[in-house]
Parts: sequence; structure tokens; C-alpha cells
Amino acid sequence: MKKPLFFPLPGNEELAASLARELDAEVGYLEMRHFPDGETYLRFHGDLTDRKVVLVCTLVRPDEKFLCLSYAASTVRELGAKQIGIVAPYLAYMRQDIRFMEGEAVTSRYFAALLSEAFDWLLTVDPHLHRYDSLDEIYTIPTRVVHSAPLLAEWIKAEIEKPLLIGPDSESRQWVGAVAEQVGAPYLVLEKNRLGDHAVEISVPDMASWPDRTPVLLDDIVSTARTMIEAVSHLQNMKAKAPVCVAVHAIFAEQAYQELMAAGTAAVVSTNAIAHSSNRIDLTASLAAEIGALLVKQ
Ligand code: R5P
Repeated sequence: MKKPLFFPLPGNEELAASLARELDAEVGYLEMRHFPDGETYLRFHGDLTDRKVVLVCTLVRPDEKFLCLSYAASTVRELGAKQIGIVAPYLAYMRQDIRFMEGEAVTSRYFAALLSEAFDWLLTVDPHLHRYDSLDEIYTIPTRVVHSAPLLAEWIKAEIEKPLLIGPDSESRQWVGAVAEQVGAPYLVLEKNRLGDHAVEISVPDMASWPDRTPVLLDDIVSTARTMIEAVSHLQNMKAKAPVCVAVHAIFAEQAYQELMAAGTAAVVSTNAIAHSSNRIDLTASLAAEIGALLVKQ
């Protein structure tokens, strides 16, 4: 039987290679470039007939990527693959899950429809499920989710002495609680009020009972880092120990990473759901286990 064939979209080469190694799969060569007018040229090298193909493309900054991804999926189908899955460790557009104001687009649904049309299955990591209970509410293809909590807990346990976990908003309560339980550490959850894209208000953590603990701020997504920076600044004002910031998805828009480091953070740590210099927590084995199951099932 032919081995599954992985193709990384640009920027996903390292993860695709480590997944293929873990699963004894092959990595194929997808040639991609832009014509002088900005249009995309794509060419898959090798025979895709009857192959199970996996495209690896984390979906940070999705608007720059989606058209290429869609062309790639269409090409794979036309070249005779028998199955096409997508590994998107960061799944975009999940935060636009409601029409907050009249006339707004509920882009989580439209994006789900586009991916469901292009692929046979999808694997992601801790999608931002707030008002949806599961991806099945918007995706019509089989989806699987890797939960990073055990890996975050393992890292915190190994690296931080006497941690105090802090979730920045009520949405984080459940999973910060789960990580804290696995670490065997106490946790707090703050209240957040988002005032705009680059402005948030966060309640002041009550650190009185934990003076000797190292605060560990945990969030699923860090984008502008305003959430983390606000929390760090409260901790600084109360002369707590410098906090460690842990994120699943290290988006870091514009200068967010530099600003968070400069805010008085001891360290910033993330998973490799999005390739970034702060990556310390490797999701390869967890992703590979789920891909293995999807490849067999489909
Ligand atoms: C939102 O609810 C998420 O859990 C994160 O807290 C949020 O996306 C962080 O965004 P930013 O880094 O822009 O403050």
C-alpha cells in the first residue's frame, strides 16, 4: 500500500516533515510561486493517483493563504488522490462566531463552509470555541481536535517552580482549570472587557494568598498581546514575581511579541501550532496520533 503523502504549504515545512517522520509517510514537493502580476502558479510533483494526501497549513493570516490552499486542494483532487485532509493547527476565523452588530459577516461559518467544500477531513488544535460547542456546528466534514492542555501542563510542571496559573477571561476558566489540575497548582481567572482591537480592560488578580508563587498567564491565542500585557502590568504594579506567558497559538500581530517581552514578562512560551521563536511545546506526537486515526478511518 502506498504511504500517505504530506505537502506543506509555505511556512509549514518543519511541521510537515516531523509529522511525516512520525507516521512513516512521505513528504511531496509542491512547487509554488507568483507570476509578476501576483497570480499564483502551483505544480505538484509526483504521482498522486490513489494517494491519501495531507496538506499542512496553519491558518494564521488566512486571507493571504486561502486562495493558494483552495487551488492546491482542487489540484490534488484532479490529480486523482483518493483522500485529501488538512492539518491546520491554528484554525482561523473562529472568533467571529456571532453577528455582534447589524450587517456584520459571521465569517466563522463561511470559512467553515469553504474548508468543508475543499477537504475530506480537518485536524486542528484547541479551536477557539466560545459560542459554538463543537466544530460540527459549522463544519460538515469530519473534524478532530488536539487538546494541548496535557502538554502545557507537562511543560509548566517541568519548568516552573510553584506556579500560579492565571486565565485572562471567563472563557478560559475550563481549560485553565484543567491545566492547573494536571500541574497540581492553584489558579485564578480574571474578567476581561474588550474595548477595541487594540484595547482591553482586565480585572486585577488577587495575589494576596500566593505571594511566593510564579504567575503563569495562559491564553489560547495571543494576537495583539494586549490581553497579556494588561495582565502583566497589573502583576508588576502589585510587585508580584515576573510572569511567564504561555500561549497555544502564537499569532503575535505586528510588534506584539516585542511589546509583550518589554512589558516585564519573564518568558513567553508557545506550542508549535504556529511557527514562532517562542515555540517550546511540540505538538507533533499528538497531531500524528489523530492523523493516523483519520487516515485509517476515511
Ligand atoms: C479571546 O477571547 C482569546 O481567548 C484571547 O484572549 C484573545 O484572542 C487575545 O487577543 P489579544 O492578544 O489581541 O489581546
